[in-house]
Amino acid sequence: MAEAAKKLTIFDLQAKVDRGEKVFQVTAVDFPTAQLVDRAGIDCILIGDSLGMTALGYPSTVPVTMDEMIHHAKAISRAARRALLVGDLPLGAYHASVADAVNSAMRMVKEGGADVVKLEGGEDFAPMAQAVVRAGIPVMAHIGLTPQLMSKLGGFRVQGRDAAAGVQLLADALAMEQAGCFAIVLEAIPDRVAQLITERLRIPTIGIGAGPHCDGQNLVLHDMVGLFDRFAPKFVKKYADCRSLIGKALAEFQDEVRNGRFPLPEHSFTMKEDEYQALLRQLPRT
Ligand code: KIV
Repeated sequence: MAEAAKKLTIFDLQAKVDRGEKVFQVTAVDFPTAQLVDRAGIDCILIGDSLGMTALGYPSTVPVTMDEMIHHAKAISRAARRALLVGDLPLGAYHASVADAVNSAMRMVKEGGADVVKLEGGEDFAPMAQAVVRAGIPVMAHIGLTPQLMSKLGGFRVQGRDAAAGVQLLADALAMEQAGCFAIVLEAIPDRVAQLITERLRIPTIGIGAGPHCDGQNLVLHDMVGLFDRFAPKFVKKYADCRSLIGKALAEFQDEVRNGRFPLPEHSFTMKEDEYQALLRQLPRT
């Protein structure tokens, strides 16, 4: 019998970083994509609210609700055997109060099956992160470009490009570490700022558009395999072109059906000759 995969914990991630190894995190949206990511040996599956765009077709992550996140988290958690499951808390799920933060985190773990949660924000959201950690749920922070607050940031743009903004990012990172977060995502910030933050924090930094010096890297599966084509940030590397692969398969299917090359006998079910003859005898006369 195949040995069950050992489930990764937050301590395994820290141990990896302490050994000088990189952490891999990939955003998945449903059962099959989570299965692919888990089986590939990725450390963390992010149930990211980017699924609002990649799976639900919203223009941004802003409209995503807690119920939608839970719906996807349930499917993803049925697939993940080894990876640490990080459940994103969407806009509105933790912004009004510490109580909201704890309740939403509890839902993500109890109903969605996530192991830990992630929330966007720096110093202003440290009390929310701290309350969730105190309630017993590990928190991954997320600073820099925080897409939920896109209007406040003036759009989907690189953060921390001037000295003052860089200092604020470091303060945000330290506040989230102080609040008890076990790791932090750094999104769309200059590589040198990410390096400074990584050097000054004890917890792992996971970059997405934050250069090579972070302790780990995050990509969204739909972006990296070419399943999402609405826009591609500069930091995305496309490792495969699944859209054109699927497009070709769909064109070939239509062509083969049209020309009688599909289905073939191997795709069809048979009936014993005597049963077929009996069926014909039982048919009403036309
Ligand atoms: O939702 C998501 O996929 C994310 C990553 C971009 C970090 O938050």
